[in-house]
Amino acid sequence: MAKEIKTVGVLTSGGDAPGMNAAIRAVVRTALARGLKVKGIKKGYQGLLNEEIIDMEARSVSEIIQRGGTILGTARCLEFKTPEGQKKGADICRKHKIDGIVVIGGDGSYRGAQALSRNGINTIGLPGTIDLDIACTDYTIGFDTAVNTAMNAIDKVKDTSSSHERCSIIEVMGRHAGYIALWCGIANGAEDILLPEKYDFNEQTIINNIIANRKKGKTHHIIINAEGIGHSTSMARRIEAATGIETRATILGYMQRGGSPTAKDRFYASIMGAYAVDIMLQGKTNRVVGYRDGKFTDFDIESALNMEKNIDEYQFEVAQLL
Ligand code: ADP
Ligand code: F6P
Repeated sequence: MAKEIKTVGVLTSGGDAPGMNAAIRAVVRTALARGLKVKGIKKGYQGLLNEEIIDMEARSVSEIIQRGGTILGTARCLEFKTPEGQKKGADICRKHKIDGIVVIGGDGSYRGAQALSRNGINTIGLPGTIDLDIACTDYTIGFDTAVNTAMNAIDKVKDTSSSHERCSIIEVMGRHAGYIALWCGIANGAEDILLPEKYDFNEQTIINNIIANRKKGKTHHIIINAEGIGHSTSMARRIEAATGIETRATILGYMQRGGSPTAKDRFYASIMGAYAVDIMLQGKTNRVVGYRDGKFTDFDIESALNMEKNIDEYQFEVAQLL
């Protein structure tokens, strides 16, 4: 028989992402509307182990949908990777009468959710990461805002780059995944896009491309480099030496993780937060919510973690073509 859920906890874990607050708000208000109590757990699994747990009411989440970051805070917690830490976390949930937890984070956070579920606490994960690198879903909370932030910044760099007839290398976030770079590559009309999944580390190809474009009369050359490849500053030095064209590197960094979420991030995060509570009330546990083929859906965490996601070949080809 499905465990009866009377109190739901919510936490954010791993890297923060714009739209996490919209998800928290939706979890809190949906749960209250369904007659449940809600506890906010601060600073991810670390806050759970430290018992940083607060009661949440409808007003606790007023005026947060438009705010970046996460009002609950987030953290990385090594202790939670141990069986002892996980059991301690589940015991703390029982002590605070938390029957189920909505975990908003990435793959690592789902492993923590899986561990809690094994220890008797119902868990539902929501995909919260700007990197879009969660295989079971076409959408992750924060990606839309981050990619728009990066796109706007790159437009600005492009203006000055054209004025000075320079080459610009702009590094965007994505330690293992090149989705932000791919999207900006197309959205900003970049001349070169370097993705961790695709780059062959052949700088000569880029150099040849820059020289050929300059001969055609192009005044700028924008290279979008993903964080996973990195080394933008030294790359700029080598390219300048090889081409004789002034080359500058700009690393966009953490600005991409902040800021007010876009309408899409507010909307999808809100639906996902509500959906998480509703499937938990149906007795589901150890699940992660995704958006696939135009629908919100959910997957077993283990199978979600075993799925693979690759850069779409056609999208990559178009990015290079344009
Ligand atoms: P993300 O959730 O964005 O992928 P991390 O990989 O840093 O970010 O994971 C966030 C947190 O999830 C970690 O700090 C840790 O507390 C927890 N976590 C990660 N991996 C595991 C694991 N294998 N078992 C239990 N908890 C984990
Ligand atoms: O949120 C995802 C991400 O931005 C990655 O692109 C990046 O590698 C990582 O987080 C860096 O996060 P932190 O410095 O907080 O560990």
